Amino acid sequence: EKGGYDHFMLKEIYEQPRSVRDCLRGRIYPQQGKVQLGGIKEYVEKLKNVDRIIIVACGTSWHAGLVGEYLIEEYARVPVEVEYASEFRYRNPIITEKDLVIAISQSGETADTMAAIELAKEKGATIFGICNVVGASIPRLTHAGVYTHAGPEIGVASTKAFTAQVTALTLMAFYIAQQRGTITESKLIEYLTELNQIPTLIETALKANDHVKMIADKFKDATNCLFLGRGSSFPVALEGALKLKEISYIHAEGYPAAEMKHGPIALIDEDMPVVFIATKNSSYEKVISNIQEVRARGGHVIGIVSEGDTVVKEMADYVIEIPQTSEAFVPLLATIPLQLLSYHIAVMRGCNVDQPRNLAKSVTVE
Ligand code: M6R
Repeated sequence: EKGGYDHFMLKEIYEQPRSVRDCLRGRIYPQQGKVQLGGIKEYVEKLKNVDRIIIVACGTSWHAGLVGEYLIEEYARVPVEVEYASEFRYRNPIITEKDLVIAISQSGETADTMAAIELAKEKGATIFGICNVVGASIPRLTHAGVYTHAGPEIGVASTKAFTAQVTALTLMAFYIAQQRGTITESKLIEYLTELNQIPTLIETALKANDHVKMIADKFKDATNCLFLGRGSSFPVALEGALKLKEISYIHAEGYPAAEMKHGPIALIDEDMPVVFIATKNSSYEKVISNIQEVRARGGHVIGIVSEGDTVVKEMADYVIEIPQTSEAFVPLLATIPLQLLSYHIAVMRGCNVDQPRNLAKSVTVE
């Protein structure tokens, strides 16, 4: 049942070229520069006029929501707020029938997310779901939605469900942009052509596995670890830290790289590995200065870099290459080595990666 892999988690990591492809299937037409999302097409008028989107979710799904915020604001130019469902539901939030709420949930059964949906519904908002499990409670509670088609995820640590959620949000961002006219057809052709290649590029990223395993061996005894990124790589850093802490029990934190000097920099010494997402896009130079600040304090650096990078390679202890891609798609690739890194560290520490202590696959109580 594990398809020859030692753990479901590893199997599911390796399924990502397929799961992302399944999420894209029948939804993008690169040559025509068109996105089609049958599940929400009845809400096109709503999308054209909406002036605020609120994303609610928990855990990894909340991290996917943060990536969605960057994408929707960038391409569709609609203001987005991303909320922990558990905080949103108890805060007497300001919400009206003009709002669009997007609930993200792999299982479709998370209690806090369900309660947030019910609250928003009572206030008259339109609710979309992004779910993996077909026919679960959340897809039945929402007005419309998009399934991620990642397939069953058995490992408690979410891997392929996360990248499929990010893929669905990428599609949604371009879909809304197309409806609102905030993106040109030629740009859409360009982006969708590239998006169509992402499953193949994930395959390439997975080839770093042995190299990542070697790096995992160097850091397996760490007691703390910091993950840093900027822009949409910030939520990727949060997700990298969550993966490490939940399966290896190493204390890890994700931060926006620029926030480091507002506190976490005090933690840095030779026992504190720092993982930087330092791919070649708009914040590259800024991330490089953040790496220098860590090096100057004796911190060990692991860089997730674009293929062929030489600058970070000179500064970091280790680098892991991912294929070059547009900024919009970096989260889908940069996540892969972070999943592998946590996986190998956890296995080396003798942890139960598929069933980490104290955790349940879906949290159906608040
Ligand atoms: O099923 P959901 O996506 O609603 O679950 C939300 C979180 O409990 C979940 O993403 C959790 O954080 C992950 N399993 C962690 O890997």
